[in-house]
Amino acid sequence: MSFITSAALAETGYVVLSPLASPIDPAEWLGLEYVGWRSSGVTRFAPLASYAGEIECNGFWNQTPPRTDKDGVWIASQTEQAPTLTRLAQEPGVNVGRCRVIELQPNTYADAIYNLHQDDNNRLNEDGTGWVVRSYVNLTDDSDSLLILREDRFDPATEQRLPLPAGTRMVVDTQRFWHAVWHRGSTPRYSLITSLTSGPELDAYIAENDGTPHVESVPIDPALIEGARLEQHRRIEERRRAFEAQGIVMEPPVELY
Ligand SMILES: [Fe+2]
Repeated sequence: MSFITSAALAETGYVVLSPLASPIDPAEWLGLEYVGWRSSGVTRFAPLASYAGEIECNGFWNQTPPRTDKDGVWIASQTEQAPTLTRLAQEPGVNVGRCRVIELQPNTYADAIYNLHQDDNNRLNEDGTGWVVRSYVNLTDDSDSLLILREDRFDPATEQRLPLPAGTRMVVDTQRFWHAVWHRGSTPRYSLITSLTSGPELDAYIAENDGTPHVESVPIDPALIEGARLEQHRRIEERRRAFEAQGIVMEPPVELY
């Protein structure tokens, strides 16, 4: 397989861009229409672009006819409510697939580790075209919350922890990393997540916005990491047994939205 990729993501698989210069009016995300869509943790989603312009979040490959995560259709009732968010999603000037605001309720580090998953951004993607990655813009000020990225689902030594203050912008190859957010707040976290097609245009956007592939990982207590490691295995085994009792062989978690 030879997809067109972005050189900026080759080294570490992520870049952190310069933060947003000015705050966004919370009415842009609070006024959107949300649908219940469980992914990593207790979540709801407000789509800005979807498979056919409907307010729903299903993967484009689950629809008829199926297609890869490209050519999302903007939803007028949502984009009118959120013009700044729409502009941010379109700003890179590349093809956009799914675009939505995610609302995540507070959780624990152990929850996040159990929730680690790889995105399925490139199902049905055609060889020779651009690899789909994701941009994140953190909307709420979640300075104590962390995006967790792991090269290896079960190896904490491969973990990178990135803080999420308001206006944090990143581009991440979320199909490469096992990832989830540890949200330590007392109110929901809101983030704009957009599927973007890799290539020279995305590289230009990353360069214009001072993208860096190296950010210091936030240290946390090793005892917390070890506790979460044990809990991760315990919960996976518990789930496997529950599925087994129903005659189902459990597949690794892949995000369905
Ligand atoms: Fe994800």
